Amino acid sequence: MSNEVKKNYTNQELNAMSNDELARLGTELDDVTVAFRKERFPVANDPAEKRAARAVTIWVLVGIIAAIAFLGVYIFWPWEFKNLGEEGHLFHTFYTPLLGLTSGISIVALGIAVVLYVKTIVPEEISVQRRHDGPSSEVDRRTLTALLNDSWETSTLGRRKALQGLLGGAGILFGLVVVAPLGGMIKNPWKRGELGIMGDGTLWTSGWTLHEQGVKLYLARDTGAIAEQHSGETGSHWTTVGVSRLVRVRPEDLDAGGMETVYPLPTSLVNDGDMYNPERDVYEEHMHSVHGPRNPVMLIRLRTSDAEKAIEREGQEDFHYGDYYAYSKICTHIACPTSLYEAQTNRILCPCHQSQFDALQYGKPVFGPAARALPQLPITVDEEGYLIAKGNFIEPVGPAFWERKS
Ligand code: FES
Repeated sequence: MSNEVKKNYTNQELNAMSNDELARLGTELDDVTVAFRKERFPVANDPAEKRAARAVTIWVLVGIIAAIAFLGVYIFWPWEFKNLGEEGHLFHTFYTPLLGLTSGISIVALGIAVVLYVKTIVPEEISVQRRHDGPSSEVDRRTLTALLNDSWETSTLGRRKALQGLLGGAGILFGLVVVAPLGGMIKNPWKRGELGIMGDGTLWTSGWTLHEQGVKLYLARDTGAIAEQHSGETGSHWTTVGVSRLVRVRPEDLDAGGMETVYPLPTSLVNDGDMYNPERDVYEEHMHSVHGPRNPVMLIRLRTSDAEKAIEREGQEDFHYGDYYAYSKICTHIACPTSLYEAQTNRILCPCHQSQFDALQYGKPVFGPAARALPQLPITVDEEGYLIAKGNFIEPVGPAFWERKS
């Protein structure tokens, strides 16, 4: 094999060789044996060749049209959330399926075009290569270039200008289909908006930050309630009027050893108990609280025998209310929800990378990659017996990032 092939060629000798000769030399030097090779269309302008090229062209065109449709939907389709019954709700519900459909068709069509091209136009060839170690010699590099040139020639793409253009266009559009959605994720982490139930847009605020502006915040549980269907003489419709997604929590709502996820609920958005008004629609605001990325808090009721052993962190001695402790649910590793509370060991487990936090020791990490304690929310009970926040978190919630001081 390669040991029998002459390897030392001068530049003059290499320059004197044609592309075919260099390609053949390359296969020999690479210990490649071409076991079988057959042109698909030995006769130029074979009608079957035209048919094959047409099929490839059609699939590339389908891919291009779908990619353009994807970009059109992504940029122009009305994507903003609309409640059931609100004008534009139907269009809004089609946004995500249309993105999936158009990007899926464009990727599949492009894939089919490539497979068809290889299966019906590129010459059939079976080559066998033996592996060898070490870097490539000058001869190898030159011959490899020649081989690539040869592949380009034999692929016949060089003379199919229309298909070349289409494939180039499809490649660019396909790239845009992949890259364009990333644009939606780029945001300025320091850009402040108005402070609301989801924070002010920066990484160190949440709905609980509203407490710093004197807003009374209840700890509220998510009931999972959805829009209700109302029927009347004029027909039926769905409405969120009178539906309360978040309701206030009292200490007696939780059993000893229990855990409940709670969200901030300002007095102005309360619609339960003696403050219930069936005419009010607070549903959307409640959902904003539920979706606030740094809002979820784990309200844990320790068993009294365990609570007696609890160790408070300096400066947080009065953050708990009796046996009730409230820790941020956002993992300090990389922000998964630390959803699992194990009552026997009083450990909070993050399912993402198995960090464990000790609920008896101010949420300090005791296992896994998380390096910071879960921030603790100061809580108490108001004169009506509802659990409320006594203050904001004293440190940013979530993973350690570059401006963290704690
Ligand atoms: S995000 Fe919680 S352990 Fe990694």
